[in-house]
Amino acid sequence: MSHGTLRVSKIKNGTVIDHITKGRALDVVKILGINGRSGGIVTIAMNVQSGRLGVKDILKIEGRELSSEEVDKIALITPHATINIIRNFKVAEKQTVKLPSIVQGIVKCIKPSCISNSGNEPVKSIFYMEEADPLRLRCHYCNNIMEEKDIFQQF
Ligand code: CTP
Ligand code: ZN
Repeated sequence: MSHGTLRVSKIKNGTVIDHITKGRALDVVKILGINGRSGGIVTIAMNVQSGRLGVKDILKIEGRELSSEEVDKIALITPHATINIIRNFKVAEKQTVKLPSIVQGIVKCIKPSCISNSGNEPVKSIFYMEEADPLRLRCHYCNNIMEEKDIFQQF
């Protein structure tokens, strides 16, 4: 190991979220509801050297595999992440998240008058991707643009 190289231990079973956009690791931690009070070892590495991205964050979670809803939320926050499922120390599955063009049922429109917030019947939220970075989504029902902070604070 050369001078200045960071080595983070391999995990036995669980999930490694690699190539997280720098500075976004704690947002991913929040999406996953990780508070360190239950479950296995969680390793957060920030500002790690990476060939592809220059600098990246990594999150390793022992003993947990992610739901598709969690993966969809992560894709909004860090669209270049790789999700590696580790079983018995081997990478059993590798999935590169994809920035969706339509975002359904994950975030709510912040406009109170939007029909999707009318309350009586549940209306599935639908947004269109306007911009990836900074993230901007446009509501299908009221055309309201949701800014990144409006979206991230719902996670
Ligand atoms: N990893 C781990 N524990 C294991 C196996 C892998 O923590 N038992 C981590 C590696 O450190 C790496 C990620 O999972 O951060 C993906 O592993 P691997 O596919 O072996 O690495 P790369 O080939 O570098 O991945 P990529 O091609 O996606 O960059
Ligand atoms: Zn709306």
